[in-house]
Amino acid sequence: MKILVIGSGGREHALVWKLAQSPHVTQMWCAPGNAGIAQERLATNGALVECVNIGAENITKLMLFALEQKIDLTVVGPDNPLALGIVDWFAKNGLRIWGVNQKAAQFESSKVFSQKFMEKYGIPTASAGTFSEAGPAKAFCATLGGKCVVKADGLALGKGVLICANQTEAEKAVDEIMVGKAFGDAGASVVIQEFLEGVEVSMHALCDGKTAKVFPTSQDHKRALDGDLGLNTGGMGTYSPTPFLTEAQLAETARLVLEPFMRGCLAEAIDYRGILFPGVMLTKAGPKILEFNARFGDPETQVYLTRLENDLVELLEASVSGTLAKHELKWKPAASVCVVMASGGYPGSYAKGKVITGLDAANALPGTKVFHAGTAQSGRDIVTNGGRVLGVTALGKDLRAAQLAAYAAVEKIQFDGAHFRRDIAAKAL
Ligand code: AMP
Ligand code: GLY
Repeated sequence: MKILVIGSGGREHALVWKLAQSPHVTQMWCAPGNAGIAQERLATNGALVECVNIGAENITKLMLFALEQKIDLTVVGPDNPLALGIVDWFAKNGLRIWGVNQKAAQFESSKVFSQKFMEKYGIPTASAGTFSEAGPAKAFCATLGGKCVVKADGLALGKGVLICANQTEAEKAVDEIMVGKAFGDAGASVVIQEFLEGVEVSMHALCDGKTAKVFPTSQDHKRALDGDLGLNTGGMGTYSPTPFLTEAQLAETARLVLEPFMRGCLAEAIDYRGILFPGVMLTKAGPKILEFNARFGDPETQVYLTRLENDLVELLEASVSGTLAKHELKWKPAASVCVVMASGGYPGSYAKGKVITGLDAANALPGTKVFHAGTAQSGRDIVTNGGRVLGVTALGKDLRAAQLAAYAAVEKIQFDGAHFRRDIAAKAL
């Protein structure tokens, strides 16, 4: 099979690495990829994965490339091409592609859509209101005592969520999004949720339109600094499994969320084939969904795929063709920890082009895989090329062992200004 993976981050490196192990794959490309992806080799024939310089949002060019190379399966990593309808375009042109279609991508691209869907189909969520005018939005914040979360409806690079402690902050947030248009058209409508307290976990389920197969739990660390301080980021590290949900509690949460979700999709004629990634707050009153993503998490994917035993090509094929019910997901009993090494200054501004050393030494450690995110090849060097640079991932017999292994690998790697959290998975230990 010829496979094309779309995207350039740590999630896509993990997807490429796992897909490359499949005996079905004879050739693989990644658009646009990164320096680590370009070093991956296929298990079947030792061929290198080829990076092609086409952006993840250039749907026309990607489609022409897939037609020209007679790609058998395209795998989409990021949310933007999904929201732009890449799956619909490919399918219309007779190309097989894995990921959600544009209608299904609304679960991520519109928070108003998701909130209304959750309420209509009885999925546990925060009490909330949706608004397209500032006045009623502010009045609703007041009914929550001002302690609330104001969310821009559309995609806002993960920045459109403002947490407010009182009515003054809430009114400022509404003005910023709806009047000041801080996130452009993404803020034409807002969702306002009550502020929920609890432990936040990531849930993933692979769906094929009828069946949803839930993954084990994982937990991200969104803040830039140790102790959950500092600015929100795309994610500074993950681990799986989390001790905050037992297997039985995970199964119960999955039932509470996925059953009404699939029922709702059927009723609304949404053919959901891809990953559903709900953000879940474990509150005293039970699990509540904060938001839906319609793609794999980053860096959740790094810990999931290092634990997954199945052939990923077979699972994604089954997700496209609606035959997931025949598959059982199998996971290594080992724990996995991923520590993100970022550029100094991230999530603010940062420099690029810093030479990275120690990658081979880190990768040589047992059970360790260094996934690249923002990296590029520069002559013989691999250099930094983004905010999140590497996802240093290690397996261990338990979380503590995995954590020690991941940090032992981090110690081997150097680049100017490297910044990482030292407490990934610490909450769980
Ligand atoms: P979202 O993009 O909707 O997941 O929001 C980004 C982050 O804001 C989440 O990962 C949570 O940490 C936080 N958050 C979102 N909604 C709520 C809520 N209702 N209560 C408390 N925290 C929230
Ligand atoms: N790690 C969080 C996300 O991918 O949205």
